[in-house]
Amino acid sequence: MSLLSALSIVWGLMLHVSFSVLNTQYCVPRKTVPYQNNLKLFREEGIFNYSIILMRDDLGVLLLGAREAIYALDMNNISDKKSGVYWNVTEEKQTECTYKGKLAEVECRNYIRTLHQVNDTTMYVCGTNAFSPTCDYMTFVNGELQLRGKQDEGKGKCPFDPFQRYSSLMVGNDLYSATSINFLGSEPVVLRSSNLALRTEFKSSWLSEPNFVYMDFVDESSDSPEGDDDKVYLFFSENAMEYDFYSKVVVSRVARVCKGDMGGQRTLQRKWTSFLKARLDCSLPEPSLPPIVQDVFLLKHKDWKKSIFYAVFTPQSSLSQVSAVCAYSVSSIRDVFNEGKFKTPVAVETSHVKWVMYTGEVPVPRPGACINNVARKMGMNRSLDLPDKTLQFIRDRPLMDEAVRPLTGGPLLVKKGPLLTRIVVDNVLALDGQRYAVMFIGTDNGYVQKAVNYAGEMFIIEEIQLCENPQPISILRLSSRKGQLYAGSQNGAIQMPVSNCSRYDTCVDCILARDPYCAWDVSTEQCSSVSSLPLSSNTSIQSLKEGDVSQCPQPDPVAAVDITLVPHNNIQLPCQLHSNLAQVHWRFSEQTLHSDHKYYIYDGGLLILSASEADAGLYACDSVEQINGRTYKRTVVVYDLQLDSGPTVWSSTTPGSEVINSSDSIHSTSTAAPGTGPTLHKKDPLLPQTLINTAKITRLEVAVALLSLLCLSLMGVIFWIWIRGQWKCFKFSQHPGEKESKKQSGEYMHIENRTTEIKLLGPESRRPCSANNNHSAVDFKGNGELHFTPMANISSLDGLGYINDESEI
Ligand SMILES: *[C@@H]1O[C@H](CO)[C@@H](O)[C@H](O)[C@H]1NC(C)=O
Ligand SMILES: *[C@@H]1O[C@H](CO)[C@@H](O)[C@H](O)[C@H]1NC(C)=O
Ligand SMILES: *[C@@H]1O[C@H](CO)[C@@H](O)[C@H](O)[C@H]1NC(C)=O
Ligand SMILES: *[C@@H]1O[C@H](CO)[C@@H](O)[C@H](O)[C@H]1NC(C)=O
Ligand SMILES: *[C@@H]1O[C@H](CO)[C@@H](O)[C@H](O)[C@H]1NC(C)=O
Ligand SMILES: *[C@@H]1O[C@H](CO)[C@@H](O)[C@H](O)[C@H]1NC(C)=O
Ligand SMILES: *[C@@H]1O[C@H](CO)[C@@H](O)[C@H](O)[C@H]1NC(C)=O
Ligand SMILES: *[C@@H]1O[C@H](CO)[C@@H](O)[C@H](O)[C@H]1NC(C)=O
Repeated sequence: MSLLSALSIVWGLMLHVSFSVLNTQYCVPRKTVPYQNNLKLFREEGIFNYSIILMRDDLGVLLLGAREAIYALDMNNISDKKSGVYWNVTEEKQTECTYKGKLAEVECRNYIRTLHQVNDTTMYVCGTNAFSPTCDYMTFVNGELQLRGKQDEGKGKCPFDPFQRYSSLMVGNDLYSATSINFLGSEPVVLRSSNLALRTEFKSSWLSEPNFVYMDFVDESSDSPEGDDDKVYLFFSENAMEYDFYSKVVVSRVARVCKGDMGGQRTLQRKWTSFLKARLDCSLPEPSLPPIVQDVFLLKHKDWKKSIFYAVFTPQSSLSQVSAVCAYSVSSIRDVFNEGKFKTPVAVETSHVKWVMYTGEVPVPRPGACINNVARKMGMNRSLDLPDKTLQFIRDRPLMDEAVRPLTGGPLLVKKGPLLTRIVVDNVLALDGQRYAVMFIGTDNGYVQKAVNYAGEMFIIEEIQLCENPQPISILRLSSRKGQLYAGSQNGAIQMPVSNCSRYDTCVDCILARDPYCAWDVSTEQCSSVSSLPLSSNTSIQSLKEGDVSQCPQPDPVAAVDITLVPHNNIQLPCQLHSNLAQVHWRFSEQTLHSDHKYYIYDGGLLILSASEADAGLYACDSVEQINGRTYKRTVVVYDLQLDSGPTVWSSTTPGSEVINSSDSIHSTSTAAPGTGPTLHKKDPLLPQTLINTAKITRLEVAVALLSLLCLSLMGVIFWIWIRGQWKCFKFSQHPGEKESKKQSGEYMHIENRTTEIKLLGPESRRPCSANNNHSAVDFKGNGELHFTPMANISSLDGLGYINDESEI
């Protein structure tokens, strides 16, 4: 292939990719917090599948269920194990299970899947127990966990298959569960285990190969003028019956039952008389099959009508990588069930049934309604009193015609890339007296995304890496009171505070983070947790919707760092930005610098190629960040490049370095918002030494180096665009044509060596959770030789920051 054709292909590719960049809004988490060793975590040797958590705020312990083990952990520090019990599968059970064709070490074990509180001291526990689900009572007394050994039948309360999703809920003494009731997993059921057990009818119009994900309770009887009952809501996905497709289509559903349901007398005996279901709508901006609900969180409000379900959806087709979050108000779901039309089956051909809107007369009392004042007036105090007409209607038509629409009309978040798995939402009181719903969303590569929707504008405050190795977050729990999140994965459980305001060390950074948990305390000059501030504090600053930093005190001027200029050498000036959303701008004297034959601007700084005497002067690195349509500019670091008078090559120490008020000496070249002043940069005495080189480079060498750099940077840009493409943010009120902030593609490092050596790294990856750490860099030696170097030895260099790179050039 000729060079020309190769280049044209590369350019074509670039144009194509950049075109798609321009046409979509990409949302990048403002900060990426890589895995930290100081996170509190719990894991035990030989124990896996940490997939169920019961928080006991009252006891201060977290009960964690895994495979054949249950632990009681300190809620303040989950590394602190208070007690633990094993519940191993017996050899007999395991053998029996393997005879039925299941894998001994995988399926024929006891996976703890159910953990509920019964009373102050007692819990109810169920495990899959080698495809023979079994339950037991467990006590936590005097800091000691103990299983009672009262083996209870677990069929219908806990799945047989450890890989199957399921959901359960304890309301009073009643256990509500949604799972399969048989070994094959072919008989789905929504069951209430109580004195009066109730279940769903075994009909595909009720449940068709469902995948249950979540259940919760809403006390709708409180202050109900209609004399309504409390409800249990269930979220799942199942095969659609309402679409005429050639192939199977799965849809997401919400269903509900009434707490006081007692079944029917003749019709629907021991079956729910109040089981109603509706489709959950969460439309993506691009055409696709309906997305599948994966997890739900109920953000409870004192007034249940204001409670909101937040649901995570993933694509139905593996071709798509778009996940979404949609929110539904309890009252809108209730309206669909209480007032909406029903769907009814009609036979189109001999064997084909189509579901259409039911337009006939609906019996009274309304089918599927709980016992309310209307029914009581008719002398019906219990569901047992309901007439057959009402019961037969609901037995044959459990599906509502209308779908439940999201609160905001569309998704709160649309994200491309690693799939979202679990969600919890915190209701945070901010300094402005308003409450904000902060979403914590687990991903299938071990990250948690912390996101807020500010009046339609989706904003990801930060993404935090919880798992060292990429693996799905399989459970996420929130203790608002303790301000802690607890996450579980195959290998362990991790604890994380809902916020760490100390990550933001300047006022500007604290405000631009737009984290409802954090505010800048002017008196202590710290980014502090809002809850720790005195209530009527008038010395704190927070600007969530606007990200307005104008109230921030004028920062101290930046002290210039002195660098010795040795002619004909390459000089590297590091500059690390605080935000993934920021762009870097370099100024020399009053000129804005661009990457060209002389300068190379990359993620971590500026490279001046073959410096000459004319390059002496002041260089300023500005961070330019777009927040909510505004531009903020601040100076991150200033370098004073001075000509070295003597011929001594290694004279790196420059005595008498002066501190310059950068605002005086360097003129701002842009009309930036006020208050985004420079920050103080510590002088680094080692810096000049790493920047000086002894060897000269010939013109030819520079030319060859430049050409290669250009080629590699082109590849970097493409890779960067591709990486950026992993993230997509759906904004309701934003200008779609607006271009996202752009990052440079490559990172150069200047390594002290005999020969002139330029290291080119791949772009800083925005893709979280690197699979391996064997980073490599391409060295471009002055002699034109290309070779690979492991990154480990260079990434420790000062001022170069964190390199998260998966590209192998
Ligand atoms: C349990 O964890 C192991 C080890 O990570 C994994 O291979 C297995 O698939 C998990 N089992 C289930 C049911 O998730
Ligand atoms: C948490 O508990 C572990 C185990 O008891 C202990 O080693 C660790 O120091 C504790 N961490 C904190 C912050 O208290
Ligand atoms: C149960 O299994 C665990 C490890 O899987 C083992 O340490 C423990 O001794 C076993 N307990 C019993 C009673 O067999
Ligand atoms: C808690 O419930 C268990 C099981 O139902 C019962 O045996 C125990 O007496 C109860 N304890 C208290 C303190 O109510
Ligand atoms: C229903 O309850 C009311 C009062 O609670 C009672 O007067 C009435 O007789 C009951 N009706 C039936 C059919 O049980
Ligand atoms: C908060 O962040 C700071 C700075 O990154 C870090 O030193 C500290 O350990 C973090 N605290 C917690 C509780 O994670
Ligand atoms: C804060 O309030 C106190 C009294 O309530 C007042 O004296 C002080 O000037 C206020 N400070 C600011 C910065 O507004
Ligand atoms: C920098 O500013 C401070 C006060 O703002 C002033 O005292 C000092 O003389 C200034 N230095 C230069 C070099 O202008």
